[in-house]
Amino acid sequence: MNAIHVRGGNPLFGETKIQGSKNAVLPVMAAALLIEGTSVIENCPRITDVFHMQQLLEEIGCKIHWRDRSLYIDAANVTENAMRGELVTGMRSSIMLLGAMLGRFGKAAMNHPGGCVIGERPIDIHLEALKQMGVVICEEECFFTATAAHLTGTVITLPMPSVGATENVILAAVMAQGVTVLKNAAKEPEITALCDFLKAAGAVIEADSFAESTLLIRGRRKLYPISFRIPTDRIVAGTYLLSVLGTGGHIFLKDAPVKHMKALIQLAEAMDAEVSVCENGITVLAEGIHKTVPYLETGVYPLFPTDMQSPLLAVLTKAKGKSVICEKIFENRLRIVPELRKMGARIEVKDNMATVYGVEALKGTRVEALELRGGAALILAGCMAEGETIVENRQFIERGYEDIVRDYGNLGVKINTA
Ligand code: EPZ
Repeated sequence: MNAIHVRGGNPLFGETKIQGSKNAVLPVMAAALLIEGTSVIENCPRITDVFHMQQLLEEIGCKIHWRDRSLYIDAANVTENAMRGELVTGMRSSIMLLGAMLGRFGKAAMNHPGGCVIGERPIDIHLEALKQMGVVICEEECFFTATAAHLTGTVITLPMPSVGATENVILAAVMAQGVTVLKNAAKEPEITALCDFLKAAGAVIEADSFAESTLLIRGRRKLYPISFRIPTDRIVAGTYLLSVLGTGGHIFLKDAPVKHMKALIQLAEAMDAEVSVCENGITVLAEGIHKTVPYLETGVYPLFPTDMQSPLLAVLTKAKGKSVICEKIFENRLRIVPELRKMGARIEVKDNMATVYGVEALKGTRVEALELRGGAALILAGCMAEGETIVENRQFIERGYEDIVRDYGNLGVKINTA
């Protein structure tokens, strides 16, 4: 009833269109809170994390409606009510509303968003950075309030390029007094999308020597309602690109954000896939998994993304030899390994390093999704396996994939929900 059934063992053939980016749309939705009027976010993926963020925004007074994949957010009359705890803790990305509410009201009250199975996911870097802007944080058990009599721009250097902390500083800084210089900022494409949205609305943000990850944000700019198109999702596109490496075949990923996928495309070509880029997507041709990956670390953009680590692990279960993948971003992101072992994979784990010994075949069986990207990787493994794989807990996958059954079905996979 809550599972996805995959009958694997066949190459992928076909074309599928890539959805809007989950990790770009969530901070942009939070940014709409800074604009007293109706902003339109186009190419918005219909995923549960977006519906969740919509609920949070409606909770504080935003009027929101959909028109196909355009989201209309009217933040003219919002209140500074605290959001219901269970809504905030239900989704990590609720933390992005902290910076937006500080920017709009000068205060926020919310539960700690909490961790998830991939890691404890603290917010210390967010809070330390905001304190430097004059924000006073009062923390209780699992709740905290943040107030800023005068949100003030300053020079902030993040101890590590946290994506969420970068987004929260940007959301506060665009409304702060004076200039904020943010050093060691994250450089993920989702940060660029947020800055593009805010600049289109009237903010002044310069990527001052962006190669060195420094952003310069001039505050107190009036922001105006705009329409903005969300870029397509590099992680969703990467999931399907890796799938064809595992199964073999020939696919076209329409609207794939090629310029955000360089590390992945390089890896695919190193594994003997033929990747050809055209103006509206990428074609991938692969014989099926052969080459191993001797050693690879996940890293911050533009290195190999942590969100692609589980799908890559699934692909490597049938590579001819030994591969080593080291997870450097999250402390507990190898949870998929026991599930892959149920399918016959041979994987050893020591600390955050997985050593994969390729096997002749994976066998379909019942497995459990425990989180978003691991769940998608189990479906990918199901495409590679002989027989039927039943992936339980599809709700985790629906957080970030608009319709993974539709997409894999477009690529010729025998897949259905049940
Ligand atoms: C964003 O999470 C993404 N989520 C994640 O995607 C992605 O994996 C991650 O960035 C890294 O690219 C969204 O954009 C909604 P971080 P975020 O702050 O912002 C530690 C997916 O599957 N850290 O860069 O939470 C943290 O624990 C999701 O779509 C602190 O220690 O990532 C982690 O180990 C999963 N203190 C590392 O930094 C802090 O205050 C990277 O976290 C903040 C982070």
